[in-house]
Amino acid sequence: MSKKINLPKIIHDPNKMNLETVRQKNKKKKIVFIPTMGALHEGHLSLIKKGKKIKGLTIVSIFVNPIQFNDINDLKKYPNTLKKDIENLRQLKVDYLFLPNVEKIFPNNFETTVSINNLQKFLCGKNRPGHFNGVSTIVLKLFNIISPNVAIFGKKDFQQLTIVKKMVEDLNMNIKILEGSIIRESNGLAMSSRNKLLSPKNFHKASNIYKGLKYIKDEYKKGEKSSKKLIKKLEKYYIQSEIRNIDYIEIFDPLTLHSIKYVKKGAIIAIAVKIGAVRLIDNLKF
Ligand code: PAJ
Repeated sequence: MSKKINLPKIIHDPNKMNLETVRQKNKKKKIVFIPTMGALHEGHLSLIKKGKKIKGLTIVSIFVNPIQFNDINDLKKYPNTLKKDIENLRQLKVDYLFLPNVEKIFPNNFETTVSINNLQKFLCGKNRPGHFNGVSTIVLKLFNIISPNVAIFGKKDFQQLTIVKKMVEDLNMNIKILEGSIIRESNGLAMSSRNKLLSPKNFHKASNIYKGLKYIKDEYKKGEKSSKKLIKKLEKYYIQSEIRNIDYIEIFDPLTLHSIKYVKKGAIIAIAVKIGAVRLIDNLKF
């Protein structure tokens, strides 16, 4: 008779998680890690499916990291669908769910942060002071607790991905970072836990974010290479689509995140806009 195994095994305590991964690594198991903040959607699940293709042990974390939110309301209304998330992880046969509580991760006397000097100054970093220090600090902590061989991040958060890769390189961490493509709703909107907070009307309006990016890529293919002109066109397109609250539109080099004057193959166009009270980001590679 086969033994019934209840996966994922849920671990709350960081020390226990650490002991467990050390034990598994001693057994020569490859650890594949996918960090998340929960409210899992197909974007997250695609990263997990990518991880499952690697022979090893899959660990997903769900932790809504308070130190990466600069708006307390954004943190308070962050969606929580834990029961459904666990069911999704079970179906994908994820081995472990690391589900720590805040006090264990950030005790009152916590005072160390990891800071990436330059890469955090651009794009989302401009209007979200401290956000990327919060991200790099939690990612480093999770990496230390789980000591993965491989960790997977989505290209949807392009700046986050770039920063994590730089931290791993700068701090000599022996972790392979894999990248997952952006998964979209049927109307083209990049999947995000925040999409749940959009009204049906705004959900429809938000489909223009990606349509606009594709339109700009077409203009580039037709011969327009000036970043300034392409950005102007996109601004106009968004305003016509009633997307008026534009945080930024940038065209930049994928490694340095520096803006470029003329678009070349491999460059990225990224945007952040607010629709209603919901901040949405997206990007596309030329
Ligand atoms: P979260 O927003 O939950 O995202 C977890 C991972 O899923 C990230 O790597 C993100 O880029 C990826 N992801 C989100 N939407 C996606 C989509 N539509 N397609 C593909 N991948 C997508 O990003 C975070 O959490 C946090 O900052 C975290 C790294 C967990 C640190 O707290």
